[in-house]
Amino acid sequence: MQGHQSPDYKTPLKKLVINGGYPLSGSVRISGSKNAALPMMTASILSDHDIILNGIPDLADVRTMIALLNSMGMYTKKNHNDSFTFNASGINSKFASYELVKTMRASIMVLGPLLAKHGEAKVSLPGGCAIGARPVDLHIQGLEKLGATIEIKDGYILASSDRLIGSTYSFPKKSVTGTANILMAATLAEGETKILNAACEPEIAQLGELLNSMGAKIQGLGKDCITIEGVENLGGAEIEIIPDRIEAITMVIAGIITRGELRIENINSSHMQQPIELIRKCGAKLEVFEDYLYLKGSDLISPISFQTNPYPGIPTDIQAQLMVLNTVAEGDSKVKETIFENRFMHILELKRMGANIGIDGNTAIITGVQKLNSAQVMATDLRASAALILAGLIADGETIIDRIYHLDRGYESIEEKLSNIGAKVRRID
Ligand code: UD1
Repeated sequence: MQGHQSPDYKTPLKKLVINGGYPLSGSVRISGSKNAALPMMTASILSDHDIILNGIPDLADVRTMIALLNSMGMYTKKNHNDSFTFNASGINSKFASYELVKTMRASIMVLGPLLAKHGEAKVSLPGGCAIGARPVDLHIQGLEKLGATIEIKDGYILASSDRLIGSTYSFPKKSVTGTANILMAATLAEGETKILNAACEPEIAQLGELLNSMGAKIQGLGKDCITIEGVENLGGAEIEIIPDRIEAITMVIAGIITRGELRIENINSSHMQQPIELIRKCGAKLEVFEDYLYLKGSDLISPISFQTNPYPGIPTDIQAQLMVLNTVAEGDSKVKETIFENRFMHILELKRMGANIGIDGNTAIITGVQKLNSAQVMATDLRASAALILAGLIADGETIIDRIYHLDRGYESIEEKLSNIGAKVRRID
């Protein structure tokens, strides 16, 4: 049974219309994390038993992942609301097509589990994407270190192995989905694996938690050295997906720049400490509790300079949104992007809305302006779309954002959530 329908990529013509200038107020609930849900869905490949994931957000990327898993023979059942059961006992294909992988890079995370469980996989190379080259060489290197034979042919990764053998792999550069792939593969390998310079993101730590409750033996989760003692097989498990820290921070920024007053519910504040400390510097009032926060914007917004970093640093996934805050701050700021080489595509669109931003290599130099003006703009990637919505919320007049299918990949019911707290936003064809 299929819980979600396949994504409809034939309807990318929808636009968002935003009338800016309304302060947001009230309470908004954050959804489950996309970047936690996706790897845990692929982890279900490793077991023949039921994996129950609660709190799965209803997003295009989630529907793409379900379509991909179903195409391999995965049984997927929607239990209720946001709870899904996955059962991989009927998997009969180890193939991930270009059509599915090109729309969502996270599909690469089927590679490690397929190889570890079935000894073979044919997964399309993801190709380039708007925010940079984003190769998967480290995923491949790491799996080869565990004994896999990997060949690239006609745009596909052809991987095979007998049982993987535990080994030590040190990531030359931190990779989130790369760590997920090696971690999942190592759970069923023979002997001990050490992942050095591993990603410490809470989404990876939760993937490890799920694997441990399936019977894996993993230590060091959330640290940059993870040790995995391979087991023969894995069982069933159930877990509640952590809240989406990127959505939460996007909402915090929305509240601050509209000079609003918001209660943001269903967060895990321990996952967003550095971003919260950074945002405090802009002058807004933030009262932060374990699972909710309260904010009140101030008339004067101070600029906040920062650079993106792997967790626990400032996530690249909120760089574009924080830049919007700086466009209307009182003074100058610098934003340095260190993770992706081409993640400034939103700048051109923000400039069309009156922002004053210069670029020097991987650093943006922003001089705050009094107000943004409305314009017709185009979303170029997921987080850039969120930035344009934020800009639209404070622009004079009507902003029209084109190509919002990017947004639907990562933000659940965004216009409904924003409308409920006072934004004037609607979707048109
Ligand atoms: C994940 C997140 C994405 C986030 C990103 C960085 C998911 C599903 N996606 O993406 O939202 O923006 O982390 O926090 O969790 N790299 C290589 N070779 C590799 C792998 C990565 O050179 O084999 C480079 C990338 O090009 C990039 C950097 O390493 O410059 C970090 O990328 P990575 O952490 O792998 O990003 P993703 O896992 O794709």
